[in-house]
Amino acid sequence: MDELRLGVIGVGGRGALALHAHKPEKKTRIVAGTDISGSAIAKFKERLGDGVATYKDYRKMLEKEDLDAVFITSPDFLHEEQAVAALKRGTAVYLEKPMAITIKGCDRILATARESGAKLFLGHNMRYMRFVHKMKDIIDSGAIGEVKTVWCRHFISYGGDAYFRDWHSERKNTTSLLLQKGAHDIDVIHWLAGAYSRRVAGFGSLGVYSRCKRRKANDPYSAKFDASHWPPLKQSGFSPRIDVEDMNMILMDLDNGVQASYLQCHYTPDSCRNYTVIGTEGRIENYGDYGGESTIELWNKRHDGFRLKGDKTYKFGHDFGGHGGADEKIVQGFIDYLRKDKRPFTSPIASRYSVATGFLGAKSIRSGGKPFDIPRLNKKLEGAFS
Ligand SMILES: NC(=O)c1ccc[n+]([C@@H]2O[C@H](COP(=O)([O-])OP(=O)(O)OC[C@H]3O[C@@H](n4cnc5c(N)ncnc54)[C@H](O)[C@@H]3O)[C@@H](O)[C@H]2O)c1
Repeated sequence: MDELRLGVIGVGGRGALALHAHKPEKKTRIVAGTDISGSAIAKFKERLGDGVATYKDYRKMLEKEDLDAVFITSPDFLHEEQAVAALKRGTAVYLEKPMAITIKGCDRILATARESGAKLFLGHNMRYMRFVHKMKDIIDSGAIGEVKTVWCRHFISYGGDAYFRDWHSERKNTTSLLLQKGAHDIDVIHWLAGAYSRRVAGFGSLGVYSRCKRRKANDPYSAKFDASHWPPLKQSGFSPRIDVEDMNMILMDLDNGVQASYLQCHYTPDSCRNYTVIGTEGRIENYGDYGGESTIELWNKRHDGFRLKGDKTYKFGHDFGGHGGADEKIVQGFIDYLRKDKRPFTSPIASRYSVATGFLGAKSIRSGGKPFDIPRLNKKLEGAFS
């Protein structure tokens, strides 16, 4: 077995994910990395040793290193350019979500992957989370009958820390937090429902963080989570420019007639993704996701009135590791895809539809709630990845 030579574009922040792949004893080695930040590069070298090659410009790394694959863990607005550059050279890509910040950007990445034949893997780690798999298994077992509707409420206590102090706060960098955060959940909704959205409409607002104290453009800032940052309106140090919504609500009509909602709020006191899936013979709901003692409740007998406990409870212990262990699992999924052609749980096509739904959901929010049809991907591209 030949050694897999891996590179990382954006070694700071989320770039730490790629370290799960560095297993020289298993012939998988990170040999190079690139970042515009000197301190991120220094930390990367500290972790991997002086033998690892580093670059400020990702193009130089692609040119000089003989890489089998790259992890792209840079900010959202760079994904399209960097993924296209790597795929064009025939280098396999692990691309963080969201795939790109426009529908056109996603379709360009897909077209490039199809032309070059290089493997493209999307970083939707929720598809490697235990609670999501369990919900899918329950649905697939028929326990709630035919799925008719999926509702997701997404509470984000750290929204003010993570998304309104740096590049995330501007539409030009993210389009909307419906892509940056919601691309995960829209993808999970599509997966659980078994179809993609064909039409979307929404309302949303920027009503809290726009009222907080801002920093000046050149002031230092930190986007680290800090639980003492409460209540939201008392916080300061926010980006000089904020034009993404801090509360988003979209309604989706899916190809198979399932209808869904995704509600996202960035100033809640707690954090959780809470899904309920309702079918013709019952309903499931998760209490907690990966961060603690979580359960999925299944109600499939009639009870007139509210019952906290379902007719059946599926319990989960505490999962350890990044994102409840999903980070390590998804990286292994990528390596297995590269080495053994093992089909991953994620899909580039599904990722494209999550971006398309978020993109047009944001457009609807910014157009007074007008619904938009989601353009289908051309058949050639769809066929190339199915
Ligand atoms: N799947 C998940 O659970 C998950 C979690 C966190 C972040 N992410 C995704 O990871 C990506 C990065 O997010 P982040 O919070 O780490 O952002 P970040 O701002 O910390 O950026 C990551 C790194 O990229 C570097 N970078 C910026 N411009 C670059 C360039 N031109 N070339 C090379 N490197 C460059 C930055 O200096 C930084 O070290 C985003 O797309 C985000 O959506 C995914």
